[in-house]
Amino acid sequence: MEDLNNGLGADNQHEPKENPRRDFLKKSSLLTAVALTPGVAVKAAESHLDEKVAAAFEKMPVNITVNGAAHKLSIEPRVTLLDLLREQLHLTGTKKGCDYGQCGACTVHVNGQRVNSCLTLAITVDGKKVTTIEGLAKGEELHPMQEAFIKHDGFQCGYCTPGQIMSAVACIREGHAGSEAEIREYMSGNICRCGAYPNIVNAIQEVKNGGQQV
Ligand code: FES
Ligand code: FES
Repeated sequence: MEDLNNGLGADNQHEPKENPRRDFLKKSSLLTAVALTPGVAVKAAESHLDEKVAAAFEKMPVNITVNGAAHKLSIEPRVTLLDLLREQLHLTGTKKGCDYGQCGACTVHVNGQRVNSCLTLAITVDGKKVTTIEGLAKGEELHPMQEAFIKHDGFQCGYCTPGQIMSAVACIREGHAGSEAEIREYMSGNICRCGAYPNIVNAIQEVKNGGQQV
């Protein structure tokens, strides 16, 4: 009996008195369960909790010039330039592909530099000039790169095309279109699932070699 008691005593000694991680998980589960009860949801609605949470995301004033037009906007700091362009300014030429900076479909120019607008917070563009695919043509007259993409069949479905064209223009302006290899390297951030790469390269080379102003 003594051995048995000693044995139990020994086991108790080895049992951890507290486990912070387990306590945390228990408390989290409890809070989640409480939060999911209908009563809590109703009380939250009655006290306009959702509006209070929304108000916590304070809006900020932003002045942005897009395709030559000045905009005075009030936006939440978390809004990306891509969402601002597409959802508030209704410039849907700029595409959302991955939303993770991996496909280049959202490429636009900010003060002449190409950026992935899905990775750019709109408030960081305050006071700057943004050019989207809609701002590249001069009225009815297409930009030389747009003409070249049409001439060389630089697209199939067209989803990646606005980003490809904005990147292609920047590629030449940056001086990175000296050879096919260089073009491929500096256009590598723009993915085309239709595989129109050879024709895209041809279009860029034609504009570059034609010496046209881009
Ligand atoms: S949507 Fe921006 S990189 Fe894909
Ligand atoms: S043309 Fe279809 S993804 Fe490029």
